[in-house]
Amino acid sequence: MKDSYNRNIHYLRISLTDRCNLRCVYCMPADIQFAPPSYLLQDDELLRLVRIATSVGFDRVRLTGGEPTVRRNIVDIVGEIAHLPGIQEIAMTTNALKLEKLAEPLAKAGVKRVNISIDTLDVERFHKITRFGKLEQVWRGILAAEHAGLYPIKLNAVVVRGYNEDDIVDLAKLTLDHAWDMRFIEMMPLGSIADFQVDSVVPVAEMKLRIEMACGKLESIDWDGHNPARPFRLKDGKGTIGFISSVTEPFCAGCDRMRLSADGRLRLCLLRDNEVDLLTPLRAGASDDELRGLMSNGVYNKPWGHGLAQNVIAETRVMSQIGG
Ligand code: 5AD
Ligand code: SF4
Repeated sequence: MKDSYNRNIHYLRISLTDRCNLRCVYCMPADIQFAPPSYLLQDDELLRLVRIATSVGFDRVRLTGGEPTVRRNIVDIVGEIAHLPGIQEIAMTTNALKLEKLAEPLAKAGVKRVNISIDTLDVERFHKITRFGKLEQVWRGILAAEHAGLYPIKLNAVVVRGYNEDDIVDLAKLTLDHAWDMRFIEMMPLGSIADFQVDSVVPVAEMKLRIEMACGKLESIDWDGHNPARPFRLKDGKGTIGFISSVTEPFCAGCDRMRLSADGRLRLCLLRDNEVDLLTPLRAGASDDELRGLMSNGVYNKPWGHGLAQNVIAETRVMSQIGG
């Protein structure tokens, strides 16, 4: 399915819940209010929309949140999605808190790989940036994911000035001993906490400089242009290091994705408010064909890219309500 700019849109990121068992400062305000459950897609509604999405041409899905593992029936939901015809790959973005128990069942149900958020290796700073998380639990989750064969393991760090810019080097050094893909993400502004995000962004150029000053030159690796992280390697490193520079060097030209929010909206661009409401027509009795038509129109109407350079900031949701 092509959008009006001739981009092939086939990757759907599905937010399973807006809830999370952490409260990362770059993702949500401290006093976040979660949506009442009845506003969110129920299991059967979700599976119906995903099935229709496969018929529009979506073949890869990523389960996100909030935190996808706090959704009830998560293992069953994965199993059901895995059995839909046309699904080539299921991945998940998670904070890993529940992976020690869930990595194995999720892998068996059909998750192929996970992206895990870890913003620092310092126990106290982890507690501060997540507002109460325990680093040790994430570490056990990463090892469980590795044990369950969820390769390649990607680790995500959002870099926030005043919180973890000094931790970039230690995180980068993880790739010397582990075959993990460490990705550093420029904080994106969204919703009610956008002012804080704009004020505390650390540009990718500075992240690279910090790593190269401490570890030597980053060797660049071939890049397919769709993966938002441009990959590098430290000399003799087992893993890779990537940078996601949505703010200072947008990669909208290679965009292949759209998002389905937990409340049943097709979000056309992460950083724009344009959405297509699928939940209301679904609950009003729309047919599969009607829902398919709404999705196809959404794909066609996907905006070219974000407007951060023009100071256009999406306002209606914070990141935890979309899933990154
Ligand atoms: N900017 C960039 N990435 C973010 N994430 C959450 N908030 C932001 C933000 N403001 C990412 C985290 C996490 C995923 C769920 O979303 O890296 O891995
Ligand atoms: Fe939860 Fe992930 Fe957002 Fe942190 S970044 S609050 S772990 S959804």
